[in-house]
Amino acid sequence: MPATTGSARRVAVLRCIVAALVVTVLLAGLVVLVFWLVVRPKPIEYSVARAAVRRFHVTAPPGGGGGATLNASFYLTLAADNPNRRVSMRYKSVAVYVHYGAGEVAPQLAVADVPDFHQPSRNETRLEVRAVARSAPVPDWTARELEHDRSDGEVGVEVRVTAIVHFLVGGVKFRHYNMRAICSPVVIGLSPSSAKSFRGVPCDVAIS
Ligand SMILES: *[C@@H]1O[C@H](CO)[C@@H](O)[C@H](O)[C@H]1NC(C)=O
Ligand SMILES: *[C@@H]1O[C@H](CO)[C@@H](O)[C@H](O)[C@H]1NC(C)=O
Repeated sequence: MPATTGSARRVAVLRCIVAALVVTVLLAGLVVLVFWLVVRPKPIEYSVARAAVRRFHVTAPPGGGGGATLNASFYLTLAADNPNRRVSMRYKSVAVYVHYGAGEVAPQLAVADVPDFHQPSRNETRLEVRAVARSAPVPDWTARELEHDRSDGEVGVEVRVTAIVHFLVGGVKFRHYNMRAICSPVVIGLSPSSAKSFRGVPCDVAIS
C-alpha cells in the first residue's frame, strides 16, 4: 500500500510540473502576442531623396601604368523613415558609402560619417551627407568609365548606408542591430541644373 501511494504521489507531482510548464509557455506566448499587437513593428524605410556631384575630376592613368585618381564631392540627402507609432530609434556609427557601379565588385569612391542621432516614432529624418573623394585611388577600368561618364554628363553610383540601431519601446531599450541599406542605381547628373530633375531612389534595408 505505501508503495502505491508513493508512485501515485510521484505521478501527481509530475502532472503538476507539466501543467506549470504548459501554463508558463502559454503565458509567455500571450505576452509576446500582446507586445506584438500593441507595438505592431513596421519596417524602417530609406531612400536617396536628392543627389548632386561637384568638382568631378578624374586623372587618366598615366600611360596605363596605374595610379588613376578621382576628385569628387557627392552631396546626398537621405530620407530615413520610421513609420512606427510606438518604436523610436537611436542610431550609432552611421556611415554612408558611395560605390561606382553596383554589386560586390563595385569600387568604393567616397565615404562620409554621419553624427549619431535619435529618431522619434512616426518621423522622417533627412540626413544631409557630403562624401568627398580627394585624390582617391581608383582602378584603371573605373577611371576610364568615369571619364566616359563625365563626357556623357551623368554618373551611376550605388549608395550604401551602415549603422548600429537600438530600438526603444516605451523607454525600454532593446539589443542593438546592424542596419544595412543599399540604394541602387543612383544616377547623378553632372550639370548643376540636373539636381532638380533627380528622382528619389528607394533603398533595400536589411536588419540583422
Ligand atoms: C584633386 O585634388 C587635389 C587637391 O585636393 C589636387 O592636388 C589634385 O590634382 C586633384 N586631382 C584631380 C584629378 O583634379
Ligand atoms: C523628426 O525628428 C527630428 C529629430 O527629433 C526632428 O528634428 C524633425 O523635425 C522630425 N521630423 C518630422 C517630420 O517630424
